[in-house]
Amino acid sequence: QKLDDKIKVGFSQAMTTDDWRKQMNSSMKIEASLRPEVDLTIKDANNNIEKQIEDIEGFISKKVDVIIVSPIQSKPLTAVVEKSIKAGISVLVVDRKIEGESYTAYLGADNIEIGRIAARYIISHSKGSGKIIEITGANGSSPAYERSLGFEQIINENKHFRVDNIIHGNWEGESVKEPLKTILLQNPDIEYIFAHNDRMALSAWETAKTVGLEKKIKFIGVDGLNSVNGGIELVKSGVLDGTILYPTGGNEALKLALKMYNKEAIAKNNILNTIVIDKNNAEIIENQMDKVDQQQTVIESQQGAIKVQEREYASQNNLVRLLSFF
Ligand code: FRU
Repeated sequence: QKLDDKIKVGFSQAMTTDDWRKQMNSSMKIEASLRPEVDLTIKDANNNIEKQIEDIEGFISKKVDVIIVSPIQSKPLTAVVEKSIKAGISVLVVDRKIEGESYTAYLGADNIEIGRIAARYIISHSKGSGKIIEITGANGSSPAYERSLGFEQIINENKHFRVDNIIHGNWEGESVKEPLKTILLQNPDIEYIFAHNDRMALSAWETAKTVGLEKKIKFIGVDGLNSVNGGIELVKSGVLDGTILYPTGGNEALKLALKMYNKEAIAKNNILNTIVIDKNNAEIIENQMDKVDQQQTVIESQQGAIKVQEREYASQNNLVRLLSFF
């Protein structure tokens, strides 16, 4: 199949510095490699909004068939997504949202529900002061807004619990350290810290350790990656009390993009499942995820072997042609 005949899918990824996004890219690539008719291009915006707008503009001028985008922030990416739609290119928004309704479909876990689940978990497991610190993701990105919304809604319904302090983080661990240390030194009677992802939850635990509070405070994160320092490992080692699974949906995104290309009827809002991971189920979930990872490794090595065979076949064919020439 020539490149021109292929279905061109352009994925504008917000950044790839963290394992969550690395896993999202690799599961999307695996799904694409199972479909020889697909040509997938991933552009990494390096957490730079101007770069992400340029990346999407590039997909529009290349006339890709479908655009997948995980927008760094909602508002500044809205116009360029609208422009793609106006140019006749379907857009699947994943993980983080844009503003308004001008996109073809959205795919991701329900972040308001993730906030609520974290709050309910704290309420049902609390044995202490009920004082909570919330550490949010970056301002302007929809999961940060929605996780807060759901979390505070449930906490505020319950008189015994209070969000004592909110730290406005930026999704990365560094953003947590200084503000948290200041708060903990003034206010050691905190029972729970809810961070909007596991990277910031780990950083919160490390910071609490520097002031000797890491055993007293309980930590809840979001993501639940099965990787080194991922949420599952942090739950198993007792750093986190729990984490709320936030699936990357990389493979589902590619499948949906193809349905969009084929003009199949799909929902506007496609919700990925979530679950609380704590010490009761971390091991089982880890085993399940290990199995999926192993299957992916097998698929990748089989594809590698097929490529080698294809190359050998092609060069043998050339040889046959060359010989028949004489
Ligand atoms: C990865 C990440 C995750 C978080 C998600 C929200 O870059 O920060 O940790 O759950 O983005 O969009």
